[in-house]
Amino acid sequence: MTPTRRANAATFVLLVVILVVLAGFAVSAYALLRATRERASAEAARAAAQQAQVQARVAESMAALEAERLREGATANTPAASTAEASAIRIGYSQCNRGEPWREQMDKDIKAHAAKHPEIQLIAKDAQNEALRQIAQVKEFVSGKVDTLIISPKDTSLTAAVAEAFESGIPVIVLDRAVEGEKYTCFIGADNRLIGAEVGKWVVKTLNGTGNVVELKGLASTIPSRDRSEPFHDALKSTGIKVLYEADMEWLSDRAREKMQAALSRNPQKGSIQLVYGANDPAAIAAYNAAKDAGRENEIIFVGVDALPHEGVEMVRRGVLAATFEYPNGADLAIETALRLKKGEAVPKKITLGTRLFTRENVDQGGTPIPAKP
Ligand code: FRU
Repeated sequence: MTPTRRANAATFVLLVVILVVLAGFAVSAYALLRATRERASAEAARAAAQQAQVQARVAESMAALEAERLREGATANTPAASTAEASAIRIGYSQCNRGEPWREQMDKDIKAHAAKHPEIQLIAKDAQNEALRQIAQVKEFVSGKVDTLIISPKDTSLTAAVAEAFESGIPVIVLDRAVEGEKYTCFIGADNRLIGAEVGKWVVKTLNGTGNVVELKGLASTIPSRDRSEPFHDALKSTGIKVLYEADMEWLSDRAREKMQAALSRNPQKGSIQLVYGANDPAAIAAYNAAKDAGRENEIIFVGVDALPHEGVEMVRRGVLAATFEYPNGADLAIETALRLKKGEAVPKKITLGTRLFTRENVDQGGTPIPAKP
């Protein structure tokens, strides 16, 4: 082969190699592009399916509520109020869960206060601890054009529905568990940060600054859970008190009992836990019962929050709980605020209620008041 032919052949081979490499690049770039597009469209499809599922569940809950309304005697496609009742104050009241002692009491108190005002027509709904059901209730109250909405939301996932109701022009009173942001008319509740700090102070004093603690926290997606916990931890800083175990009991007694069983089995030695802080009394009482099953109730101090007379306070009296901090439900103020709003009066954006500490020493004197901070 002549040198010219050899050079031509080498150039030809080089060109072929370059072409093959370029083709390889093109094929992998195309494959990458396709995979990215497929992933994006799969994600979009998943999001759309999720959205459709949420909408279907809200629609289902609304249909169930409509059926409930019809069973209660209303007529289909008519607003819940009849013409004769048009001058009444229609208050839509959505309770996140009627199945807990503190909320049962709130319901009784709301109904009792509303009953003192014959002009009030109270439409009460129970969301049975389901956020989607509660969202549907709010939407139904908005489309039924109630005069005022009172809501004790399950958690912050109610924020958008509350904002929507507020923006539609309906005054919204949020009770107890806060939502995010400011799109509501008035929030009524006790200062959970103050309660958390007071529990911490009381624990440090009671344990003389040293010991091991179990904390049973409220549902993580609720603001009172965070607010009752953070200042409690702050109060323990630079003391000899350690939080050995903390768990989310979702505000539910059964869950609290399970979590306490877990705390006990992780710390099996007698005397390894000095105190349990239950973010509500049902949790503190359930923890006591779990400790009792394990024969360890006498070595542990139990403290809770709520102080219902027939629950937490009674348990302090019986020596089950060493202390409980009152969490007033604000039912009377909610009704009074709804009436003021109906009259067109201005109401504060936030009404903060005080608390009260009950211990064995002061329970028979009605506890020690701890006023809300101004
Ligand atoms: C009831 C409850 C109370 C608690 C409050 C906090 O659902 O768990 O026991 O104090 O909610 O929002």
